[in-house]
Amino acid sequence: MKVNGTPVTPPDGQARLLDYLRDDLGLTGAKEGCGMGECGSCTVLLDGVPVCSCLVLVCQAEDAEVTTVEGLPPSPVQDAFVDGQAVQCGFCIAGMVVSACALLDRHPDPTDDQIHAALEGNLCRCTGYSSILRAVRTASQPTHPNPATQPTTPQGPARHADTHQAAGGQARARQEAARQGPGGSRAAGSGVAGSGAAEWEEA
Ligand code: FES
Ligand code: FES
Repeated sequence: MKVNGTPVTPPDGQARLLDYLRDDLGLTGAKEGCGMGECGSCTVLLDGVPVCSCLVLVCQAEDAEVTTVEGLPPSPVQDAFVDGQAVQCGFCIAGMVVSACALLDRHPDPTDDQIHAALEGNLCRCTGYSSILRAVRTASQPTHPNPATQPTTPQGPARHADTHQAAGGQARARQEAARQGPGGSRAAGSGVAGSGAAEWEEA
């Protein structure tokens, strides 16, 4: 296994990936909220696919590349969350950022539906989600103003151009993995829960 690009040898293959990352490696960005694949606060990337690390055993990630929020390459996402005041207590934010980065890898200029789908497994108890949605939109178009905050002209809001390069993100794979449940693929348990999806629908 590699974690954030560094080869590691976990001592206990039966440990949860979340515990190994936090307790053994000191990577505490991923948080334990529910411990059941429901909240998404423990989200990390497993070979580029967002997963709930509380549902993944270390042995299931044996040959994988694990990326935590600490190992994400620099991107506009973190700045957009801070500048857009999309962070309150912060407990959910590492998972949100990991999921958002995976989304923008796959869809540099996502639709609202794509943002909802990518983040519906990440629950937030503070923000009400709207600021998070705006932050992801802002991060998707970093060289252009956010249409939600710009005055309209007689011709309407300025047309925004894509500014990201398409990359090999796997957000859709996450949804598929979630459907398979904890007993499914290695990426199982991304926490796309019914309650979470409903909350995002309302945002
Ligand atoms: S801690 Fe809630 S999904 Fe992992
Ligand atoms: S900012 Fe507090 S749970 Fe999301």
